[in-house]
Amino acid sequence: MSDVQYDQFLSRIYDDAPYFGQARSREPELFNGFYFKHLRDKTRRVLEFGSGTGMLTVPLARAGFLVDSVDISSSMQEVLAGKLRAEDSSVAKRVRQLTADALSYLGEEPYDSIVMPEGLVIALPDRALQIALFESCHRNLRKGGRIYADFVQPRYKVVYEQKLQEHTRFRTRDGDEYLLSVTFRNDRHSQVEEWDAVFARKGAPERIAVTVSFRFLFHSELQFMLERCGFKVIEIDVNHAGGLGFAVIAEKV
Ligand SMILES: C[S@@+](CC[C@H](N)C(=O)[O-])C[C@H]1O[C@@H](n2cnc3c(N)ncnc32)[C@H](O)[C@@H]1O
Repeated sequence: MSDVQYDQFLSRIYDDAPYFGQARSREPELFNGFYFKHLRDKTRRVLEFGSGTGMLTVPLARAGFLVDSVDISSSMQEVLAGKLRAEDSSVAKRVRQLTADALSYLGEEPYDSIVMPEGLVIALPDRALQIALFESCHRNLRKGGRIYADFVQPRYKVVYEQKLQEHTRFRTRDGDEYLLSVTFRNDRHSQVEEWDAVFARKGAPERIAVTVSFRFLFHSELQFMLERCGFKVIEIDVNHAGGLGFAVIAEKV
């Protein structure tokens, strides 16, 4: 995924847009509870890959965790910076924002925990990139350190139909109303799903088109990839967030 796809527009409406951040921003506990259940140590920095608009970052910092938030998109980082400016300074200073590629990032010292909330794993739409991400996690963890990640499951209607178009309306926090049309295309062999999303703002003539791709993972492949990259799988919860996603814990051996 390139910075272009998560451009300024998508970053700005991400938390409000259906199919993107809307579900998580409406029910943060449903998605974030997994991380709070397992993360304990507030003295050691947590590494977050793909922090996006900070829907996990800010709650972690509020709870006292020290977070290194890596995201490749400067637009996403700007949205997170805005949220942190609105927080108490004691919360904001717990977060170190790093605009970098998670695949090549190397922290100053190994971490105990890496979190990857909602989707960086599947937002890398290529098997080799997903393996490179787990290899980067391996390089950045101490022995016994753990990955905590969650990502959505494919929508089986799209997998079955192969191509599907849906239309929906939503309103942003700023009060703008949008019609969003998404064409989903699924390739059964590569497991890559492409979304062509067209946003039409009420009262504005222009349309904004964004294409994003995801590569969905099945349980057995995820387990195989993690083991191949030097991890022991501790847990894969296929009922995460009421069955919407997978939640994964893996330990560096
Ligand atoms: C599906 S979004 C998830 C955002 C956020 N974690 C959340 O909870 O909504 C994926 C995020 O990963 C970031 N990303 C994509 N490729 C990346 C890479 N190679 N390194 C770091 N971040 C990346 C994108 O910019 C985007 O913010």
